[in-house]
Amino acid sequence: MSVTTFIKGISHFLPPRIITNADLEKIMPTTDEWIRQRTGILERHYADPGIGTSDLAYEAALRAIEDAKIDKSEIDFIIAATLSPDYYFPGIGVLVQAKLGLNQIGALDIRNQCSGFIYALSVADQYIKTQTYKKILLVAAELQSSNLDHSYDGRDMAALFGDGAAALILEPNHSNGGHGILSTHLFSDGRFASELLMEKPSSKDNPVFSQKMLESKRCFPRMNGKTVFKNAVEKMPEAVNAALKHNNLTIEDVDHLIPHQANDRISLMVAHKLKIPVEKVIRNIHRTGNTTAASIPIALDEAVKEGRIKQGDLIVLTAFGSGFTWASAVIRW
Ligand code: UT7
Repeated sequence: MSVTTFIKGISHFLPPRIITNADLEKIMPTTDEWIRQRTGILERHYADPGIGTSDLAYEAALRAIEDAKIDKSEIDFIIAATLSPDYYFPGIGVLVQAKLGLNQIGALDIRNQCSGFIYALSVADQYIKTQTYKKILLVAAELQSSNLDHSYDGRDMAALFGDGAAALILEPNHSNGGHGILSTHLFSDGRFASELLMEKPSSKDNPVFSQKMLESKRCFPRMNGKTVFKNAVEKMPEAVNAALKHNNLTIEDVDHLIPHQANDRISLMVAHKLKIPVEKVIRNIHRTGNTTAASIPIALDEAVKEGRIKQGDLIVLTAFGSGFTWASAVIRW
């Protein structure tokens, strides 16, 4: 009997402080109109100073454990996806493990930026299918508001990003029902690494930290927005088509498409290219901004809790981001 990876519980956590476009107008040269028209974003959440990414992940994890109706001691592995860890090292997986007070189980950090959730899901899927672990806690969390450049130079990035976290409990499904993860497909092209990156601090510098580094402002994330946009609208449909082909499905079989929430114009263009009705596309970027690795699972959880996603529905996830990395996953809910 084949084993599939089943999503036993899911939840998310957004820090309570809401930053509207009007709030951003007060701290950087931008307008609500520009942000709405170019991105579809109306507001995003910012964590307060003193809060770390692992704190957001922990809050989401507590809620996912409750949703799964398990005891936290059943968790036998942690996978954490983030590009904004509390520390340069160690990653946030071990911090979440400590906050939850779990036994000395393994904790793995995944660094694949906007594709981080699907990469993490793919790793979890292999561990579950090979029966290595029985209850994996997957957290995807980002806290980006503390390192955005709200000056003219960084306003393209600063308009987009928000903070948030999501968590899943994954376990084997031994029944023939086939509910769970049907496939994951992962891609990358490192030739485009410099198109979307936070360049500093860098191991290439000796010493790594210097006044010069701070003055260069290259410790803020930077992006060539047009190149990222162009590649995103090409690669996400390709990844979805690879997933559909692999599962002998067509786009008509898909009940919900959840694209990484990078820019609402990107999501709509991906839908158009795939010829999927826009009603089937889950979009929450207007309330969250781009929460990088956390964006897909936050959107997934919201759609589940709203009753929009029902048992048996076919869901396709797709992401694109820094690396470049991109990915897709198919889930039977
Ligand atoms: O999740 C990771 C992946 N990230 C993405 O997928 C993001 C992909 N890229 C994008 O979403 C878009 O390229 C942006 C939203 C970042 C920019 O939209 P765009 O339509 O490509 O704008 P643009 O780069 O052509 O900029 C147009 C103008 C520029 O002014 P000039 O040179 O035409 O005078 C920018 O300086 O908009 C200006 N601009 C802004 N104006 C007001 C850039 N950022 C802002 C801002 N507020 N925040």
